[in-house]
Amino acid sequence: MTEWHEPMESNMRYAHIQGWGSYLPEHVYTNDEIAQTVETTDEWIYRRTGIKERRIANSDETTATLSMKAAEEALGRAGLPPSKVEMIVVATSTPDYIFPSTACQVQDHLGATKAAAFDISAACSGFVYALSIAAQSIQSGAMNNALVIGAETMSRVLNWDDRGTCILFGDGAGAVVLEASDTPGGVLASVLRSDGSGRDLLYLPAVYQNPMPMLQGGKWQNGHKNNQMVMNGRQVFRFATRVLAESLEEVTEKAGLTVNDLNLIVPHQANVRILETAAKKLKLDQDIFFSNVETVGNTSAASIPVALCEALKAGRLQADDHVALVGFGGGLTWGATVIKWAATPPEPTRWQALRTQASYGTARVRSRFRQWQRRVGARLGGSPTPDARMRDAVKGDKE
Ligand code: UT7
Repeated sequence: MTEWHEPMESNMRYAHIQGWGSYLPEHVYTNDEIAQTVETTDEWIYRRTGIKERRIANSDETTATLSMKAAEEALGRAGLPPSKVEMIVVATSTPDYIFPSTACQVQDHLGATKAAAFDISAACSGFVYALSIAAQSIQSGAMNNALVIGAETMSRVLNWDDRGTCILFGDGAGAVVLEASDTPGGVLASVLRSDGSGRDLLYLPAVYQNPMPMLQGGKWQNGHKNNQMVMNGRQVFRFATRVLAESLEEVTEKAGLTVNDLNLIVPHQANVRILETAAKKLKLDQDIFFSNVETVGNTSAASIPVALCEALKAGRLQADDHVALVGFGGGLTWGATVIKWAATPPEPTRWQALRTQASYGTARVRSRFRQWQRRVGARLGGSPTPDARMRDAVKGDKE
């Protein structure tokens, strides 16, 4: 295992979070409202999970549009013009399309013309995976900055007749901007893990598997309906409490720290009882775990960045604090990151905000122009290869 040490060389590169933003759909869906559709109660849901309400995307909103709003806020706070963004990574299990990626939709919306863009699928651990990959790209010198987003529209993939799952999840998006710096700190260490043998405990069949066959009790059984998430709650609960504590111990050790050096832990927001159990295992005060599950529910890959934004708003992080992010979920996957927090950047001026907003307008015009240009080019230029032109000509002769 490699350990993180204070660097000796002055040309070391660090990846600091310099901007953050989140977006939650306006529509609040309460436990009482859910209790009108499945056999449950507000009291049961709150006592067993800590959840009171969640947000549900309206019909105009998608994972991409939620991502765009969170991204705009994060870039605005970082004061980073979209034209300078070098990498966009979106962690999601509910993309609008399998391809193009959600990240490409965000790239076009922002007008981030110099950015690489791709999605990551690691369920509720996705944001920690994405942040770690982006941080390593910056630390290695391959990139100077990255926009990392976690976004989900879980409401679109829930079985609303299954009270074991539909009470838990909600929609939302959160984003951070990572930038290279020679100031020591930022992302210090990460651990990323997986165990595919637990793939049947939490899954969402893809569109083309109808129905998805699953190996159950040694026999292949026909699975469930397309596009509906399935979870074995009890088993996932057990897994979550184990890996949450283990990965926090492992990642702090890798960063040359212990869990007692942490000022704040922002975990995946699945269930307050998971946090209570993990806090006991680690002998930590439960207050060190930030939780907003009561008002947001479980937003899968979006939950950590959304909670991080709320923690920052609540003044829970100061310069030089150590914060750990820890995620767990389908795959099975899990992972944790330790960050030495940098000084909070100043709020962007009104002029900077206006200039950034104007750049999104320009990006929309540019995107439409590029589409128009392609259509005209195809009409005027005909087939792009000599062979295809020949076939076109022969076809034309026959007609
Ligand atoms: O983001 C990915 C990670 N996901 C998670 O971390 C989720 C982990 N799991 C959990 O949070 C919990 O297992 C749940 C909240 C999903 C369920 O809580 P539980 O305390 O583990 O309940 P259970 O599954 O053991 O079920 C206990 C009882 C059952 O009834 P019987 O069989 O004892 O009669 C369930 O049918 O509670 C029943 N039940 C409900 N009752 C009222 C299950 N869901 C509900 C409900 N309302 N919504």
